[in-house]
Amino acid sequence: MNVERSLDNRFSCRKFKSEVLEDGLIQDLLRGAQKTASWCNTQPWALDIVSGVALDALSHSLVECARRGDIPNPDIDFPEQYVGVFKDRRKVCGLQLYEAVGIQRGDVEKTQEQLLENFRFFGAPHVAFISTPIDLGLYGALDCGLYISSFMLLAQESGINTIAQAAVASYPDIVRQHLSIESSRNLLCGISFGYGEDSHPVNSYRTEREAIENIANFYS
Ligand SMILES: Cc1cc2nc3c(=O)[nH]c(=O)nc-3n(C[C@H](O)[C@H](O)[C@H](O)COP(=O)(O)O)c2cc1C
Repeated sequence: MNVERSLDNRFSCRKFKSEVLEDGLIQDLLRGAQKTASWCNTQPWALDIVSGVALDALSHSLVECARRGDIPNPDIDFPEQYVGVFKDRRKVCGLQLYEAVGIQRGDVEKTQEQLLENFRFFGAPHVAFISTPIDLGLYGALDCGLYISSFMLLAQESGINTIAQAAVASYPDIVRQHLSIESSRNLLCGISFGYGEDSHPVNSYRTEREAIENIANFYS
């Protein structure tokens, strides 16, 4: 595996083909990602991988919730606000998305429809829901973050596209009605994965990264 190439080529895919992946490919992905480091080798991540009619049913329930305007109630609170550079970066990537799909500023209806795509998993044939034991606290979630990165990079190396989605953790009670995620665990996010629609405009742009001098301090 070429990690640098994978990092260069990976992007958040927001339109997938319906084509399902071979079981062997998913197993290889899981075996590879399982080698991720974790504190005390606790390997706190657990995956609930959903496909087919089970995924359709879950999507239906989540879309219903979002359409009704149910207030998100994630196991781990989403940020209340983004300020300063975080607000700026968030705004830029949002603008890139809306520009790519031709949504004009202030078009509430189309913006809402695009947001709902989260709950349709952007058409992906598979979604892996990631959860972490509540007992392991923030460090459990940190280890899961490493796992998510391994998963996405390994997938990329095999020609599989991915997107991590915190949005699908908005309504954990609904997710638990469909999947047996224990109440002793926090649902963190999902990773939708499959083959991307390369030519779709939503997959046409790439996000920027901050210059190194703005994120690293060096001491000697
Ligand atoms: C933990 C996590 C949660 C995310 N949640 C969402 C989400 O709910 N919906 C979405 O469209 N993108 C989501 N993203 C994708 C980010 O917006 C994306 O990674 C970021 O803008 C950088 O773009 P890139 O992945 O194309 O490099 C998430 C990414 C991460 C790592």
